[in-house]
Amino acid sequence: MSLNQKEQSLIQDLQEQEKLCIQKYTRYVEQAHDQELKNLFDTLRENEINHYKALEQLKKDSTTQPDVKHLDAAKYCPKSTYTSESNSREKEDDAYLCTDSIATEKMISTSYNEDLFQFSSTVVRDTLNQIQTDEQNHGEMIYKYKTANGMA
Ligand SMILES: [Fe+2]
Ligand SMILES: [Fe+2]
Repeated sequence: MSLNQKEQSLIQDLQEQEKLCIQKYTRYVEQAHDQELKNLFDTLRENEINHYKALEQLKKDSTTQPDVKHLDAAKYCPKSTYTSESNSREKEDDAYLCTDSIATEKMISTSYNEDLFQFSSTVVRDTLNQIQTDEQNHGEMIYKYKTANGMA
């Protein structure tokens, strides 16, 4: 069973959003001051590339479940670089990158949640559901970083 035109264009749109995430995290790896945050953004970037590829595979073959690699937010324990008392420019900049990233994750997570209702294939629904969980995990990991660094 292949995707109809509407389904194809929904996948295409999700890919555009993933591309934006990849571009954003590529920039944020450069822009972040704290090495711990750079590492986090780099990990998330890798995961967004995996999402993009999974969607690409669905466009070609909607009957085989792509391999979605999950990050375990529960196991993420970021080390603290900033204290809750510090008011440095670096901390302020890094906090902004985090807040902006969480907003992006929230938005893309909503897109997956809404779009998956439009697909007839269980394989596609299941894959989109798995990716949506990933996006929530991304948001949780960034939130954990903020909490550990007195930003939340
Ligand atoms: Fe993603
Ligand atoms: Fe994400």
